[in-house]
Amino acid sequence: MAEKRIGIIMNGVTGRMGAKQHLLRSLLAVRDEGGLILGDGTRLIPEPVLVGRDSKKLSSLAKKHGITRWSTDIEGTLRDNTLPIFFDAVSTNLRAKFVRQAIAAGKHIYCEKPTATNLFDAIDIYRRAKAAGIKHGVVQDKLWLPGLLKLKHLLESGFFGRVLSVRGEFGYWVFEGSDKPAQRPSWNYRQSQGGGIILDMLTHWRYVLDDLFGGVKAVSCRGVVHIKERWSEDGERYQSDAEDAAYATFELCDGGIAHFNSSWAVRVRRDDLLTIQVDGTEGSAVAGLRRCWSQSRNDTPTPVWNPDLPQTLDYMGGWEESLDNVVYTNAFRAQWELFLRHVTEETPFPWNLREGAKGVQLAELAYESTLERRWVDVSEIEE
Ligand SMILES: NC(=O)c1ccc[n+]([C@@H]2O[C@H](COP(=O)([O-])OP(=O)(O)OC[C@H]3O[C@@H](n4cnc5c(N)ncnc54)[C@H](O)[C@@H]3O)[C@@H](O)[C@H]2O)c1
Repeated sequence: MAEKRIGIIMNGVTGRMGAKQHLLRSLLAVRDEGGLILGDGTRLIPEPVLVGRDSKKLSSLAKKHGITRWSTDIEGTLRDNTLPIFFDAVSTNLRAKFVRQAIAAGKHIYCEKPTATNLFDAIDIYRRAKAAGIKHGVVQDKLWLPGLLKLKHLLESGFFGRVLSVRGEFGYWVFEGSDKPAQRPSWNYRQSQGGGIILDMLTHWRYVLDDLFGGVKAVSCRGVVHIKERWSEDGERYQSDAEDAAYATFELCDGGIAHFNSSWAVRVRRDDLLTIQVDGTEGSAVAGLRRCWSQSRNDTPTPVWNPDLPQTLDYMGGWEESLDNVVYTNAFRAQWELFLRHVTEETPFPWNLREGAKGVQLAELAYESTLERRWVDVSEIEE
């Protein structure tokens, strides 16, 4: 079988997302399983080239995983014409800068969300990519979570009838870093470094609402810094000025309402770290990261409010779980494979930098709503 190698410059790959999700669970998993089989039977083998600031971290990561190339010279690596793709997972405030450099060097771009910290930069990199005629894509991993794929299947089958409302509950307790190490990097809690849960999570909710529920018309949001003091990776105490919770309501284009609570200051007593409940005239469903439960109109109980008596209805029991009838791959890997096909086989890839800019737009409007304490309309971003 023919074999083709594809060089991918990976920036920010020593970080949480870059290392685990993109390098290990996506590209190295594809490489170690013998490559991605293209339409003509060719095996496409990804060859990551690691770039960044810290030669010690880069060399040890490369050595550990049998990667031959790494460099601290990003500009020099970008000049290498044998490497067609640039991937970026640096902290958000640096994304636009690196993506601009890579577009100027003629690379195809694939990057983490948010694509920028503000709409101006997000649209600017989209326009530059379009003008350069390169291929571009943005990580929208939640769309490939098994739970959301099952939910999408129910939506497409017409199970819900008319969708009335969507409730997203996302979050978990992120330790402050004093008694226990924080599970998230400290830049997440600093505005100047691109932190804040509105920018982090509303960029996800935008593509989930666009892709599954037909788009967002308006947003009302309240972002809050609940925990004002945290401790950094170096054990230093700092003041958090970026919101660690966001309570956002969205008007959907088809008249439905969505409400998402996103919080790093909440404890979990629900089916999963993210649950999305959809209620429709004919049925309802609740999706977690992997599982999904539904209840049809026929199975809907008739509850009676009476706190004076113990409840006899088993509310949790009246739901049917969607079957695991396919093998689900890691969500990041699933999207990577589609992007690699897009670059090598010209297959469609709608999740581009314009879609990424829509996420940044929703986050920016949610900040506006928080500051001005009002609903804000979402306008169309030009093609
Ligand atoms: N898709 C998702 O579900 C998801 C989840 C978490 C984070 N993210 C996004 O991924 C990105 C990275 O987040 P993370 O949690 O991995 O952060 P992280 O802090 O763990 O990693 C950041 C990376 O950026 C690099 N970096 C920082 N400053 C740099 C500089 N000046 N020059 C070069 N490299 C620099 C770091 O060395 C590290 O490799 C963020 O944009 C974040 O919003 C996406």
